[in-house]
Amino acid sequence: MAGAAVGGVAIGAIGGYSFLTPKETIIEKEVEVPQEVPEHPWTYTKLNVDAVQKRAYEAYFQGGCCYSVFEGVIGELREQVGHPFTAMPTKMAVFGGGGIKGWGSTCGVLTGGGMAINTVTGGATINELMGWYTETDLPVYAPETALKVEGDIAKSVSNSPLCHASVTNWSNASGFAENDPSRAERCARLCADTAGKIVEMLNAEADGNFAPVFQVPDSVIECGACHGKEGPVNNVFAKMDCDTCHGDAHPN
Ligand code: HEC
Ligand code: HEC
Repeated sequence: MAGAAVGGVAIGAIGGYSFLTPKETIIEKEVEVPQEVPEHPWTYTKLNVDAVQKRAYEAYFQGGCCYSVFEGVIGELREQVGHPFTAMPTKMAVFGGGGIKGWGSTCGVLTGGGMAINTVTGGATINELMGWYTETDLPVYAPETALKVEGDIAKSVSNSPLCHASVTNWSNASGFAENDPSRAERCARLCADTAGKIVEMLNAEADGNFAPVFQVPDSVIECGACHGKEGPVNNVFAKMDCDTCHGDAHPN
């Protein structure tokens, strides 16, 4: 690499490191040249849905739901594209598991999924992801080799983006306790479904034909007529189905 003798002193500059040596010896040192991290968003490359689903399914057992979906998408980009995805420490998403450290708030597949989408786009598909998650009978994914529990797994609709509602509705539908191994299997498959859905949407978006279908629940429009930003009360900011927590009748 670059080395020049200036005034009898050798100067070596290798990969951004400069150093002087007392004699005219240039010390060669292998230093990895850091590649520039591009501006957000990073360029998306279309991915194979099956590969992403399998990666997400397996990742669930390494770091939970939020990590699983983030790693499913970003890990596949890391393998197919390399830089800059090699620089993304996907384990940072572990925090979102179980609705953030088991709090049962936003389901980790949505947190991790939102992070993945937002890494490579402005995030237009996140709303669709949220809506799809709340209304779809899941899981659908059937692994070639089940890692926890073989066979069919009961499906359920969450009606909510919350981990709590999602898991409890599934427990009721399946008859299995929350801590039964089949609940973990169910969540792993749900992760695969979500990562797959994300990549389907991102691939469609890359082709210029992403068409959202989700419509906000009727309650959001009805209750929002007064509680929303156009209404006289204007104190609610939510697209979650109001009925799931407040019931469909107005209090008082
Ligand atoms: C016609 C207008 C209107 C609509 C539609 C409406 N609300 Fe209200 N809501 C009000 C008003 C006015 C209050 C009283 C606000 C206050 O006191 O600050 C209120 C109060 C509430 C409260 C607090 C009540 C309490 O006991 O303190 C809740 C909860 C609520 N609304 C939920 C809903 C839900 C859920 C829907 C849809 C099913 C809905 N509202 C639709 C006008 C409306
Ligand atoms: C996940 C459950 C959940 C959903 C979904 C939800 N809410 Fe709430 N809402 C709450 C909770 C919890 C509170 C706080 C209640 C409290 O502290 O007394 C609240 C408070 C409110 C209040 C104020 C109540 C008061 O005592 O003044 C209104 C109005 C309200 N929600 C309307 C809505 C509307 C409209 C929607 C749909 C767009 C909605 N909520 C969706 C759980 C929910």
